[in-house]
Amino acid sequence: MKTELFVLVAALVCTASKPLSKAAQRNKLLLVSFDGFRWDYDQDVETPHMDQLLQDGVKAKYMTPPMLTMTSPSHFTTITGRWVEDHEVVHNMMFNAKTNQKVPHKQTLTRSEWWDNGVQPLWITAQNQGLKTASFYYPGGGANYSGKAVNRVIVEESGHPDDNETEWRENIDKVMSWFSEEDFHLVTLYYGEPDNVGHAKGPDHPDRKTIVRQIDRTIGYLREAIGHHRLNDSLNVIITSDQGMTTVKKRPQVDEIVLNKYLNLLKLASFEILDYGGFGILTPRPGKEQEVFDALSNVPNLTVYKKDELPESFRLAKSERLPPIVVVADLGFNLNSRFIVYVNKGDHGYHSGEMDMKTIFRAFGPDFRRNFLSEPFDSIHVYPLMCKVLQIKPAPHNGSLSVTEEMLLLHGGGSQRSQLSVALLLSMMLFMFTEL
Ligand SMILES: *[C@@H]1O[C@H](CO)[C@@H](O)[C@H](O)[C@H]1NC(C)=O
Ligand SMILES: *[C@@H]1O[C@H](CO)[C@@H](O)[C@H](O)[C@H]1NC(C)=O
Ligand SMILES: *[C@@H]1O[C@H](CO)[C@@H](O)[C@H](O)[C@H]1NC(C)=O
Ligand SMILES: *[C@@H]1O[C@H](CO)[C@@H](O)[C@H](O)[C@H]1NC(C)=O
Ligand SMILES: *[C@@H]1O[C@H](CO)[C@@H](O)[C@H](O)[C@H]1NC(C)=O
Ligand SMILES: [Zn+2]
Repeated sequence: MKTELFVLVAALVCTASKPLSKAAQRNKLLLVSFDGFRWDYDQDVETPHMDQLLQDGVKAKYMTPPMLTMTSPSHFTTITGRWVEDHEVVHNMMFNAKTNQKVPHKQTLTRSEWWDNGVQPLWITAQNQGLKTASFYYPGGGANYSGKAVNRVIVEESGHPDDNETEWRENIDKVMSWFSEEDFHLVTLYYGEPDNVGHAKGPDHPDRKTIVRQIDRTIGYLREAIGHHRLNDSLNVIITSDQGMTTVKKRPQVDEIVLNKYLNLLKLASFEILDYGGFGILTPRPGKEQEVFDALSNVPNLTVYKKDELPESFRLAKSERLPPIVVVADLGFNLNSRFIVYVNKGDHGYHSGEMDMKTIFRAFGPDFRRNFLSEPFDSIHVYPLMCKVLQIKPAPHNGSLSVTEEMLLLHGGGSQRSQLSVALLLSMMLFMFTEL
C-alpha cells in the first residue's frame, strides 16, 4: 500500500510540475521590420500568409509610431522602449547644428555617436543578462553602446538593393541557422521595403501592391523555414514596421510649400534640415528666433513649434539635440526650402495621429495567443512585451506591459494553472491519507 501511494504521489507531482517547467522555458524571439508598411497595405492585395498569421497568432488593428515618424527614430523607440526625446535619435539624417555637418541615414548606421546617447537598446540589455543577440540590417544595431557591441551585426551598405527577393530568403535562412545552430536568443531583421517603393511610386501605385505580395511570400517562406529548422515550439516572431506612408500632394492639386518665400532662410537660420518630407528643423540665428517663428506661422498647410512649446504628447520637447524650431507639415505637404527638388511621390514624417502614419503589428509563436485581434496601441509598448517573452529584466523604459501582455498565452494563466495542480495534488494526498 505504501509503495502504491508513493508511486501515485510521484506521478501526481510530475503532472503538477509539467506546466511549471513549460512556463519557465525561455523561448527565442525574432523581430522583423518591413520599413514603411502602412497599417492597411494588406487590405487591397491578396496576402494569404499574413492572413494566416491572424489565425495562428496576434494582429493589432494598427500600431501608432512615436512622433517623428521616420525610420531611425521610430525603430530606435521600438528597440529601446523610450520616447524620441529620451533616446535622442531625432532624425534620419545625423546632424550637428553647430558645425552644419549632415550625414545621411545609411552612413549613420555605424556611427555610435549618433545612437549611443545613454539609453540601452534591447540587444545590450539581453546580452548583459546572458543572452546571445544579433542584428541583421536593423537600424541602431551597428553602433556600440557604452563600448558594447551587439554580438553579431550585419549592417546594410549604402546603395544596397532593397527589393531582391532571393536575398530576402537567404537572409531568413541565415537568421534561422543562427537560432537553430548557434543558439541565438534574439535577432532583429530589417527590410527596406515597402518604404522604398512607397517613396518612389506613392502608396497608391500598383508597384506597392506588387511589393506587398513579395513581402507576403517572404512571410510564407519564413514560416516554412521555421518548420525546417524545428523552431515551431521555441521561436516567437514579431512582424512590424516603423511608420506608414502618404501620397505627396503636388501642383496643380495644391500650392507646394516653398519656405524661402516667407522668410530669408540664409539670413535668419544658421542650420536647417528642410527638403525632407513633412518634418523640418531649424536653428535661427542669434536674436532671430521670434522673427523666424512669426514668419513660419504665416505659411499655410504647416504648423510651427518652438521646441520648448511642443505639445507634451509629442514627447520631443526634452530633447537636447533637436534644434529650437520644429515644423510639421499637414498630411501630404512637403517642406521645401528654396526650390522644389524633392521627387518623392510618397512620404512620412507627418503627425503620428494621422491614419496614414499608422503601421502594422503581428506576432506568433509558442508564447502568443492564436486568433487574437488586438486593439491599436503605441509602438512604445512593444519593448516590455519583448522583454517579457525573453524573460529578461527590462532597462528603464516608457512602455507598459499591461497594454501588450494580453497577447501572451501564459499571462497570469501559467501560475494559475500550477496553483490549481498543487491544490489538486494536496487534496488527493489528504484524501489518501484519510483512507489509510
Ligand atoms: C565597437 O567596439 C569594437 C571593440 O572596441 C570596435 O572594434 C568597433 O569598431 C566598434 N564599432 C563601432 C561602430 O564603433
Ligand atoms: C539578388 O540576390 C542574389 C542572391 O544574393 C544574387 O545572386 C543576385 O545577383 C541578386 N540580384 C540582383 C538583381 O541584385
Ligand atoms: C511548423 O509551422 C509551419 C508553418 O506554420 C508548418 O507548416 C509546419 O507543419 C509546422 N511544423 C511542426 C512540426 O509543427
Ligand atoms: C492649404 O492652405 C490653403 C491656404 O490656407 C487652403 O486654402 C487649403 O485648403 C489648404 N489645403 C489643405 C489640403 O489643407
Ligand atoms: C521615460 O522613461 C525614462 C526612464 O525611466 C524617464 O526618465 C522619463 O521621464 C520617461 N518619460 C516620460 C514622458 O514619462
Ligand atoms: Zn521612408
